[in-house]
Amino acid sequence: MSWIKVFAPATVANVGPGFDVLGMAVEGWGDTVKARRTQSGISITEIISDHPLPDNVDANTASIAAREVLNQLGNSGGIELQIKKGLPGGSGLGSSAASAAAGAFAANFLYGSRLSSVELIDAAVKAEEAVAARHADNTAPSLLGGAVLVQSVSPVRIVELGAIASLKLILVTPEIEVFTKEARKLLPDRISLKHTVTAMANSSAVTAAFLKNDYDLLVSGLEDVIAEPRRKKLIPSFDNVKQAALKVGADGLVISGSGPTLCAFSNGTVKQGETIRSAMVKEFEKGGFQCQSIVSRIDRTGTRIF
Ligand code: HSE
Repeated sequence: MSWIKVFAPATVANVGPGFDVLGMAVEGWGDTVKARRTQSGISITEIISDHPLPDNVDANTASIAAREVLNQLGNSGGIELQIKKGLPGGSGLGSSAASAAAGAFAANFLYGSRLSSVELIDAAVKAEEAVAARHADNTAPSLLGGAVLVQSVSPVRIVELGAIASLKLILVTPEIEVFTKEARKLLPDRISLKHTVTAMANSSAVTAAFLKNDYDLLVSGLEDVIAEPRRKKLIPSFDNVKQAALKVGADGLVISGSGPTLCAFSNGTVKQGETIRSAMVKEFEKGGFQCQSIVSRIDRTGTRIF
């Protein structure tokens, strides 16, 4: 049976105030999964990654999601997977979600494409839940592309929000790992009414901004009063990097997912984006941390054959 090759983009979950409910896919970084049909069972025969990843099919999100899709299809066939990681783990760029999205997409494609990308979200969410937590703000945008509102995960209810044409995303990942499970433990069970109102107002503004293609509205709503104040201590030099980005022209900066990747916003030229990128990298380096970085945009396609 012949191989197919699937690409699933990295994602920025939360988009500032939208904890667990907003996410967007980004161009440039992502996972590639090769897959082919086998008689039965799921196997992983190759992983190319610069960080250790489980090849145990019960612990890898690509295989968990692929198996879920086969179950959903009621198909007793099998799949062999080969995974090439294109983004660092523990980076806040939806690494486990990208593998889950690619695994789910590959399984569906190999067995007749009977499910839509929206219908694959449930399988990918189950895989995410197995390794981190039950949330769809990485898996949904990775599968669908664009910005996405997750109204509910059980059952999956998604609103696709599109993209803002002029938006540039400057992503900088320092060489430390933050694990979502741990970063979630820093968040309180209860939030004051004042912060709840601010979070609702800002996440609604960001949602409306995507629907209206309104960059100014987007950047006016990025303040995150819930996660950022509690999680920034996991990211060395956070305040300095944020200040440096804003000083050279970024219009806002958020923690991507649970971090440590930081995502700055601009609607300037690529050259202006590069200036913001180097200012952020320089601050991290001053603190002793090397970085991977990119000036990117929203990926509008989502998980695909390539
Ligand atoms: N919404 C999740 C969190 C995203 O912030 O914990 C994790 O990438």
